[in-house]
Amino acid sequence: VIIMAPASLILLGATVILQVDLLPDKKFLLLPPVNFTIKAINLAQVLLRWEPNTDQEQRNVQLGYHVKINAPQEEDYETRNTESRRITILHKGFSASVQTVPWNDRSLQPSSWVSAELRAPPGSPGTSIVNLTCTTNTKANNYTHLRPYQVSLHCTWLVGKDAPEDTQYFLYYRYGSWTEECQEYSKDTLQRNIACWFPRTFINSKGRDLLAVYVNGSSEEAVIKPFDELFALHAIGNDEQKPWTKWFLIAVMATICFILLTFSLICRICHLWTKVFPPVPAPKSNIKEFFVTINYEKTGSSETETEVISYAEEAGSETLEDSVF
Ligand SMILES: *[C@@H]1O[C@H](CO)[C@@H](O)[C@H](O)[C@H]1NC(C)=O
Ligand SMILES: *[C@@H]1O[C@H](CO)[C@@H](O)[C@H](O)[C@H]1NC(C)=O
Ligand SMILES: *[C@@H]1O[C@H](CO)[C@@H](O)[C@H](O)[C@H]1NC(C)=O
Ligand SMILES: *[C@@H]1O[C@H](CO)[C@@H](O)[C@H](O)[C@H]1NC(C)=O
Repeated sequence: VIIMAPASLILLGATVILQVDLLPDKKFLLLPPVNFTIKAINLAQVLLRWEPNTDQEQRNVQLGYHVKINAPQEEDYETRNTESRRITILHKGFSASVQTVPWNDRSLQPSSWVSAELRAPPGSPGTSIVNLTCTTNTKANNYTHLRPYQVSLHCTWLVGKDAPEDTQYFLYYRYGSWTEECQEYSKDTLQRNIACWFPRTFINSKGRDLLAVYVNGSSEEAVIKPFDELFALHAIGNDEQKPWTKWFLIAVMATICFILLTFSLICRICHLWTKVFPPVPAPKSNIKEFFVTINYEKTGSSETETEVISYAEEAGSETLEDSVF
């Protein structure tokens, strides 16, 4: 005990010094990231990118980033990466802000924000398509095909009310990393495309990806504003199953509860408990009993508190002592 005391004192001191060093003072300022850019990398997909501030004072603090998407739809999240991909509609533009935040230590102040934006694509108002609706249809393929299912896509839309007569629209879809342009259009009386049919697509009807549909256009008289929309495939084929599943689960739970209740009642009535579970005889204890004694001693002069914890086995084979000052 006496030999160990200085060693543990040194250890304690070292821990305190280390903690003080780790504890950042109020002058430690977090700087916002630099070179924040937003780039459209695909249909309805953007890449947000930034760099850590090179002037940032290095301390033993882990840093992360708080990203706030302002448009087209508010969203915010934190990340330790310096880039982030988002799937989003882009015809209304896209804007976001990012700040440096302490990753674990909430006592530190986050940095100021830096912002960037992707402007809405140009075009005359009222020229983009409206009322876009898309449906998918899944059909089993014959066995000679590589893919067992074949998903077709059919989209219809209305011509923008201020679109010139010579407007022509073009539709593209993206599913995952696959992008395809429509080859089979239906036309209105002015020969403008108003519907599209893909007999087979790269869409996985069981996948979780969002389907992105993008329609742009051209005209001699005006710049045609593009339009894009995201479709959740699961929102179209699986909704009917949900209420049924829920009620089925509730019924199963209710049945289980009822059975358990009935069983416990029967058990009580017939005193089955004692028959099924006879009282367990207390095992003869061969285990050596374990004693823990805690003594507090206060020495009046030095105000030091001494805690002595001693563990002693009854058999006296080994004695362990530990002291903390
Ligand atoms: C930010 O961008 C500028 C110009 O493109 C470049 O010179 C600089 O190195 C970049 N900063 C960082 C930290 O990457
Ligand atoms: C197109 O959609 C708007 C609302 O988004 C609706 O008011 C209008 O009736 C729709 N037009 C047609 C022809 O379906
Ligand atoms: C199966 O697919 C092959 C190749 O696409 C086609 O030639 C054949 O007629 C199909 N068979 C049936 C029964 O549809
Ligand atoms: C429409 O978008 C596609 C894909 O981004 C592009 O290749 C094409 O040039 C665009 N067409 C017009 C008329 O803007």
